Amino acid sequence: MRFKLDDFVQVYGLRAFVETGTARGDSLAYAAQRPEFETLLSCEIEPLLAAGAVCRFNEDARVSVLRMESGLFMQLVGGSCLPPALVWLDAHYPGAGFGIKDYDADMPEHVRLPLYRELSQLRLAGRRDVILIDDLRIYETGDYEDGPLPSDAPGIPAPGGADWMRDMFAATHDARVILRDQGYLLLLPKGGAQ
Ligand SMILES: C[S@@+](CC[C@H](N)C(=O)[O-])C[C@H]1O[C@@H](n2cnc3c(N)ncnc32)[C@H](O)[C@@H]1O
Repeated sequence: MRFKLDDFVQVYGLRAFVETGTARGDSLAYAAQRPEFETLLSCEIEPLLAAGAVCRFNEDARVSVLRMESGLFMQLVGGSCLPPALVWLDAHYPGAGFGIKDYDADMPEHVRLPLYRELSQLRLAGRRDVILIDDLRIYETGDYEDGPLPSDAPGIPAPGGADWMRDMFAATHDARVILRDQGYLLLLPKGGAQ
């Protein structure tokens, strides 16, 4: 994660960090440097990656890494009493890029690209989180710093792009596209801090 967390943590009074797709735990380690985060939760579907991350954060009682599918994980988060969180949605293509699976490995689409399920759960919960969606180029074409989605990655860029994400949160969050890296969609609670 290449974001200055000050911009979110202080302005929105965030006290938790929630991540889908732990991988090796690099973003989680970055977030864990912030003492403001009382709780940090992350999920990872690949058992080896999840086990490695559990070991990596063994000493930090604020951090929990769960080996589970991110749609179910967000259902747990939605039903929890977690304080306002920075929600970093970074789960896609299980095991790809880590020599575990191919991008086009056989699996249900809602597991390969779980963002719709994740956002639906968050929307249902009606929380005032700051939501940061990574790899926007999977969902929407644009002039991204790192270029378009590689041709071997089965992605969506469908007509309408990421409008469904903006529409889902139109009543509660303002949306901003960031073209850096592979693209981000930032959803900020309307009205700023409360
Ligand atoms: C881009 S990596 C995450 C990198 C990590 N968030 C970071 O910033 O350091 C994506 C991770 O999401 C995991 N993943 C993919 N689909 C998932 C799903 N449906 N549920 C949980 N984890 C998933 C992958 O196995 C992979 O480890």
